[in-house]
Amino acid sequence: MDAQLIPASLFDCPVVESRPVGAYRLISFVAREIAALARPGQFLMVRAAGQKLDPLLPRPLGVHEIDSDLVKVLIEPVGRGTISLAGMRVGDRLSVLGPLGNGFDMTGEGPAIVVGGGIGAAPLAFVARSLSARGRDVRCLLGFRSRGQAVVAELFRNLPVEVYTEDGSMGKKGLVSAPLSEMLCALDGTDSFSNNTSSAGDFPSEASSAETISGDSASSDDENSCAADTGMFPEIFACGPDPMLAAVDRICRDCGANAQVSVAAHMACGVGACQGCVIKTVDGYRRACSEGPVFPSTDIEW
Ligand SMILES: Cc1cc2nc3c(=O)[nH]c(=O)nc-3n(C[C@H](O)[C@H](O)[C@H](O)COP(=O)(O)OP(=O)(O)OC[C@H]3O[C@@H](n4cnc5c(N)ncnc54)[C@H](O)[C@@H]3O)c2cc1C
Ligand code: FES
Repeated sequence: MDAQLIPASLFDCPVVESRPVGAYRLISFVAREIAALARPGQFLMVRAAGQKLDPLLPRPLGVHEIDSDLVKVLIEPVGRGTISLAGMRVGDRLSVLGPLGNGFDMTGEGPAIVVGGGIGAAPLAFVARSLSARGRDVRCLLGFRSRGQAVVAELFRNLPVEVYTEDGSMGKKGLVSAPLSEMLCALDGTDSFSNNTSSAGDFPSEASSAETISGDSASSDDENSCAADTGMFPEIFACGPDPMLAAVDRICRDCGANAQVSVAAHMACGVGACQGCVIKTVDGYRRACSEGPVFPSTDIEW
């Protein structure tokens, strides 16, 4: 496989907002070029600017939101790098490389389900807003360990969000895989996504136009066609821990829906040079930073 390095620019960015959101920290910084270029699902390599050399390597963070010249990231402080970044305050400066990675393929049509787990929800607000701006019906399923993490769902303002927590302390108790499976299984091959509103709430209406479902799905020729064949399945956009992504892949395979997943890999350079982020795929090893982090779920050897 050719080593294809990504041209990326390094920016010195002043922090203009830093506030806790439950167990996470929301940081906004000025980065006009990144704000103009970033696509949903892309990431940045971020470290404190200046002389501070510990930690030396930047850490990958997803683009959470773009607001004019501002770029927002959401940080879960889990180790040296993220604890240092979560300690950044207004007036501090960040050294930011990016935007990096492929991002999600947003060119599809029809309804979409955005599935996030834990800090994997961070880049999905940008994804869900972009899908919605493209006129697609979007529903967000966000799963967290507990309320401390789940309050981050407040950042998905004006988007249809269902929250799940493992301990039931906020939203519904359970994992996001269960409602995803329920929604997709309800499309059992003869029903369209849109006429299953009893299981999917008031979500899908885009596909409910007579033209889209048309009498065709009820015609005798198509009686046995499945939702995937008729393009009625929503497209899945997922980011979260590997076990959640593997479950999303299984569920989608079972019913024939397509899922794009953003994988978390340890990264050192972020631009395809060090091979530190390789993941196993059906085509061999691929670099999550330069060939991902978004892959069709069926490409990954789970
Ligand atoms: C494309 C991409 C986007 C990301 N976006 C965000 C984001 O928006 N916000 C955010 O807070 N984090 C995000 N992460 C994860 C974040 O980069 C890592 O948690 C961080 O690099 C850990 O560095 P650290 O020095 O804080 O912790 P370390 O001391 O390096 O590790 C602390 C613990 O976390 C584990 N860990 C480290 N990196 C990862 C990883 N990538 N996946 C799973 N476990 C890991 C380690 O094994 C260890 O147990 C993203 C990762 C990737 C690859
Ligand atoms: S992090 Fe260096 S090749 Fe991906």
